[in-house]
Amino acid sequence: MPNPTPPAYEDVLLLLDADHKLVKKMFIEYAGLVEDDAPAAAKQQLALKICQDITVHAQIEEEIFYPAVREAIGDDGLIDHAEEEHAQAKEKIAEIQRMSADDKGMDDAVKELATMIDEHVMEELEKMFLQAQYSDLDLRGMVPQLLARKKQLQAQGGKMKEPTKKNQVAA
Ligand SMILES: [Fe+2]
Ligand SMILES: [Fe+2]
Repeated sequence: MPNPTPPAYEDVLLLLDADHKLVKKMFIEYAGLVEDDAPAAAKQQLALKICQDITVHAQIEEEIFYPAVREAIGDDGLIDHAEEEHAQAKEKIAEIQRMSADDKGMDDAVKELATMIDEHVMEELEKMFLQAQYSDLDLRGMVPQLLARKKQLQAQGGKMKEPTKKNQVAA
């Protein structure tokens, strides 16, 4: 391909919603592992992947998308509320990341995070994304910036999640 970073998404809303769908899929996968009584290490590995993907997603929203929407639609309350929900999700994520693989609270914590994210995503789609769609935001033009930052954060995230003695499968 001549262009090394072709925009893979039509607009930024589709890009962000692809993240939402992927995370949802992984939460369903996690519930399947619980049902199958899968090894704790396998569940932890998936839980940490979920945590990392949500962290990167929240970061690109907070750095790029939310400020742009805030300016375009002028609804501070809506964006403040979304940021507050991110902060709550990050606390739950930190809790999961601190757990050892066989921590008895792991399944419940992942389930709680899934519920939080479900509700947050629903609000994003029904309120923020809808308003962004009808604003004069350049939703298509924002894609390369978001993709570039996402890639950068993913690379950093990989480095941050090196296995420790307590979390052997955290990589
Ligand atoms: Fe969000
Ligand atoms: Fe989102």
